[in-house]
Amino acid sequence: MGNVTWDFTEKVVVITGSAIGIGAGAVRAFSDAGARVYGLDVDSTRGTQVAAETGSTFLACDITDRSAVVTAFAEIGEATSRLDVLINNAGGFWEQLTTETTSETEWDKVIDLNLKGVFLCSQQAIPLLRESSSGRIITLGSLAGQTTMYRSSPPYAAAKAGVQALSRVLAYELAAEGITSNVIAPSAVLTDRILEVRGPEERARTQATIPLGRYGEVDDIVRWMLFLASEESAYMTGQIVTVNGGRFMA
Ligand SMILES: NC(=O)c1ccc[n+]([C@@H]2O[C@H](COP(=O)([O-])OP(=O)(O)OC[C@H]3O[C@@H](n4cnc5c(N)ncnc54)[C@H](O)[C@@H]3O)[C@@H](O)[C@H]2O)c1
Repeated sequence: MGNVTWDFTEKVVVITGSAIGIGAGAVRAFSDAGARVYGLDVDSTRGTQVAAETGSTFLACDITDRSAVVTAFAEIGEATSRLDVLINNAGGFWEQLTTETTSETEWDKVIDLNLKGVFLCSQQAIPLLRESSSGRIITLGSLAGQTTMYRSSPPYAAAKAGVQALSRVLAYELAAEGITSNVIAPSAVLTDRILEVRGPEERARTQATIPLGRYGEVDDIVRWMLFLASEESAYMTGQIVTVNGGRFMA
């Protein structure tokens, strides 16, 4: 990808939400870099397709279901005995609502996917990450978890703020064992889901608020995953890497 060549030969990488969007881009990049990649997703059709194209392994897994997560990580552990990189990527929301119009069902669904799923996967990953010489946890946050400057989804914003805090907790708990935990916070990456959620007018309005003048591309995010997963990032933990074209500068 770009001018940098990454080598993840022998590294075991788990990527949640691997079937489409940023997750599928990550499966491609880590597979190209020689990693042994496991993709977890509820979308078996597209997940299997991405795995076949990349030579990676697909496991059908709903990350909000503890028993499914336990089973998936047990299978990975049996096959590899360790994990080098966990990428908590699965997440998102599908309805732009206000606090008043958010139903309890919607709240639970979005919080479960974006917050509980990260907890469940990280919890199962920790014993396997301990067997690595350079364990890494990378979690997808969002601008929606950092500030409020556009209509999003109340549970999504709350969950993304939550995973950013959880990532720091993981960083603190695991630092002594050499395992790092960092967040990548994008703002607007043109994946199919974003095309579905945000119409053309809103997209044009959004683009006008991005100082670098364009929406992010999947590779803009994936290259930071590669860096954070590598040995080069060893001295960095508990941080939020904001990759948003300058839309929000903190
Ligand atoms: N695209 C953006 O503009 C943007 C902006 C900020 C943050 N993010 C974050 O980046 C991450 C990836 O976003 P994306 O736009 O590529 O998403 P996407 O919708 O394109 O892909 C998400 C994937 O997660 C899978 N998934 C959904 N529910 C699941 C579950 N319960 N268990 C397992 N897999 C499940 C979906 O099937 C899909 O393959 C998300 O965490 C999102 O919140 C994206």
